[in-house]
This record gives sequence, C-alpha cells and structure tokens, in this order.
Amino acid sequence: MKTADDAPLTVHIGVLGCGNVGSALCQILDSEAEAIARTTGIHLRLVAVAVKNSAKSRAWQIPPELLRSDPKEIVADPQIDVIVELIGGTGAAGDLVVEALRSGKTVVTANKDLLADRGTTLYATAKLSNARLYFEAAVGGALPLVRMIQLSMSGEPIQSVIGILNGTTNYILTSMTESGTSFDAALHEAQELGYAEADSSADVQGRDAAAKAAIIARIAFGVPIEIGEIYCEGITNIPQVAFQIAHDLGYVIKLLATVDLDAADAGVVARVHPTLVPISHVLASVGGAYNAVYVRGAWLGECMLYGHGAGARPTASAVLSDILSAARGLPSPERAGRLVKGMLADRSAQFCVVVKGSDRPGVLATVDGLFARHGIAVATIMQYDYENSSRIVLTTRSAGERALSRAIERLNDLDVVDKVEVALRFMELPRDTSAER
Ligand SMILES: NC(=O)c1ccc[n+]([C@@H]2O[C@H](COP(=O)([O-])OP(=O)(O)OC[C@H]3O[C@@H](n4cnc5c(N)ncnc54)[C@H](OP(=O)(O)O)[C@@H]3O)[C@@H](O)[C@H]2O)c1
Repeated sequence: MKTADDAPLTVHIGVLGCGNVGSALCQILDSEAEAIARTTGIHLRLVAVAVKNSAKSRAWQIPPELLRSDPKEIVADPQIDVIVELIGGTGAAGDLVVEALRSGKTVVTANKDLLADRGTTLYATAKLSNARLYFEAAVGGALPLVRMIQLSMSGEPIQSVIGILNGTTNYILTSMTESGTSFDAALHEAQELGYAEADSSADVQGRDAAAKAAIIARIAFGVPIEIGEIYCEGITNIPQVAFQIAHDLGYVIKLLATVDLDAADAGVVARVHPTLVPISHVLASVGGAYNAVYVRGAWLGECMLYGHGAGARPTASAVLSDILSAARGLPSPERAGRLVKGMLADRSAQFCVVVKGSDRPGVLATVDGLFARHGIAVATIMQYDYENSSRIVLTTRSAGERALSRAIERLNDLDVVDKVEVALRFMELPRDTSAER
C-alpha cells in the first residue's frame, strides 16, 4: 500500500472471481469508494478483476479496462496491494492464494473450504513471506466473529464457541420445528427461497459448518484441527417425532458447531451435530436462515453475535472490512497457545435416545437395565405415543460417548426394539464462573 507522507492512503485491489460475492463487492467499491474515503481516510481503488467466463452477464458489469482473462496476471501485478479471492473451492483458488502469499501480498478471502483444507499451508506461507491473510467472511458471513475474537477478546481465555453457522440447515430445522414440515419439503422450500443451493449436501450433512468450526478452533484456541478430524453429523436422519419430543421436553433442535475445552482446560474438541437447545437459551430463538455465534470466556462471561451468515452483500461487507483492516496494518488473525486437540470420543454428554419398539410390560426396565450395564445412568424413561405407534424416550445423565455408542449397538439387538431412531445430545451449558468474576 502506497503511503506518501502527506498523501492519503490508497489501496489497489485485485479481485479474483466476480460471482455473487465478487459482484456485490465490486459494486460497493465502484459506487461507494468516495464515501468510504470520507469516513475512513482510505482510498480503495479497484484495479483488476478476473473471471472464468468474460462473456457472461453479471450483476455488476466489469469495465473492459479492469478485466483480466488470467487471474495469475493479477497475482503477479506489482501495483496491486490486496488480492481478494472470491473464486471458491480448494483447487485453482488455493494455488492463486498460495502464490499471492508467497510473493508477500496481502490476501483477503471468503473461502472457508480453502482455510479448513489448506489452512496450515496458508498460514505457514504467509508467515514465511511476511504476508497477511484475512478471512472474516469465511465464518458466519457478515458476523464480525474473527475480528471480535482477534481484537476484543485477545487476552480472554475463551472456553467455548458455539455457532449456528449454516443458514440452510437452520432454515430447515426451524421449518420442521414450527410447521411440522418434512425434511424434504423444508429443503425444497429453502431452495425455492434461495437459501439453499441445488446441491446442498455440504450443508445438510454438516460439512459446511465443520469447515467453519475448523477455522474457529484456530482463531479462538490456536489449535489447527483438520476438517476430517471433526465429528460431523448432519440433519438428514432426524425423525419428525424427535421435534415433538424436543418440544415436550422444553427444547428445540439446532445444528450446532461447538468448539470448546475439555474438563482439564487442555484439549480442544470441535464437532458438529444436531443438538437439543433449551427453549429459554438465546440460541433457541435464532430462526430461519439466520446465523449466530455464542462465545463464552472465563472473564467476560457470555456474548453472542447474530445476523446474516451468507448472502452477496452481507458477505461483501465482511470482505470490505478485511480490506480496510489490511490498509490499517492489522495483523492476520491468529492465536498462539499451548492447547492440544482433544477427541470427542473421550468426552461425555447428556443424551436423549428415541427408540421404536414394543410397549409390552417390562420393556422400560429392560432398556434401563441395558444402559445401567454400560455404566450409563438414565435420568428419565417413558413410553411415548406418536402417530399410532409407541416409542421409548429416555434421557441420560452425563454419559461417555463410547459407552453411549456401545449401549445403542446393544439396544438395536434387543428383540423388543425395532430400531433406535435417533440419539441427540443436549447442549452443554457452560460452567458457571460468575462467582469467580
Ligand atoms: N455466496 C455467499 O453467500 C457466500 C457466503 C460466505 C462465503 N462465501 C464464499 O465466497 C466465495 C465466492 O462465493 P460466490 O457465491 O460468490 O461464488 P460464485 O458465485 O460461484 O462465483 C465464483 C466466481 O469465480 C469465478 N471463477 C471460477 N473459476 C475461476 C478461475 N479459475 N479463474 C478466475 N475466476 C474464476 C467465476 O467466474 P464466472 O462468473 O465467469 O463463472 C465466478 O465469477 C466462496 O469461497 C464461498 O464459499 C460465499
């Protein structure tokens, strides 16, 4: 970035990719650069844009003098200060970002898949070349989570970060909860409204949220966790009866991405799974396609961000804030620490297990006994009638993940059991440290 002693700061920007987010960003840079300069003192100059198909018509038409057919030309251009990568995916986008960082350029990206998949290489390359890497838009779209953790919580011992980080799944679960819609109908509705893509498998299987959890593990706890190491359970196998049971127990089902410390405050575990959230909890009220991130720190207590987790303009807004952070010389968001990766299998949780089976006398005692033999204390157990058939619904006290898996395997072998329909974890309510504050 060129700064003369008495000249205003000017940032020359090259954008790779001009689709949904890229078009929105370029539109803002095109029409709002003067207003941004007035309020920030920073002059943003869009100098080059690369796309795959230059003949395509798009929301923001690229002026011919800015258009580059080869994105490598932009990466290599010495007059460009900030490379904004909005191509997506881990292939071409990854190679371009690595090349830009290697040459010492500042990179801004919204690409969660790239960070989750190649984060370690990107960080190492940036460090080696003294380059900076920003990615506010990659987690929670417009929610300023990265900056909040980096700046406002820089000295805070963070205990847990719990997020509703995927708008598609939150829309589907809200619809299934509030209107009793089936999964397929709710997904179709989300697609019609533009909240879900035609191929929404990464969303509904939880992989999109897992990529964001991997980024959170790094920025909030300083622990590199690969996406493949994250336990990831989506929302495709939740039976409709579970929504009714959750309601009767005083809970709603949300797909939560949780990254937190184990009991010894040493191991960090990241996981994504449908979770029973108490109706009274602030995360339970996050409906539709909205995102939210709930952070708990040892000293600050709890705080939550809520807003648009995707969408062209909200995402472009987060990208813009990264460009301005780069201009102001803010370092890349990173947290050092002595923490290590933990394993979900070593953790405990309270579960709600829904079993389809016989309502013969003595069945509850049989099921209760099986859990007891696996060292799991049952908190409540009841027969539950739903649409002319019977379910056994049991909730556990804190139970080890391994013990619970083994108990469920054995449960499926019992002749009074047709099948275990679902086992849902209750949201872990953070330790109350208010007395220590
Ligand atoms: N959309 C959202 O709401 C949202 C939210 C948060 C994060 N993000 C992230 O933001 C990034 C961009 O998303 P998007 O929705 O804007 O994607 P998109 O609409 O598919 O746009 C991708 C753009 O990249 C261009 N492109 C593809 N391959 C290229 C190549 N080899 N060289 C140069 N340009 C190439 C495409 O060119 P053509 O236009 O010529 O095909 C297109 O303009 C992704 O990483 C995504 O995960 C998106």
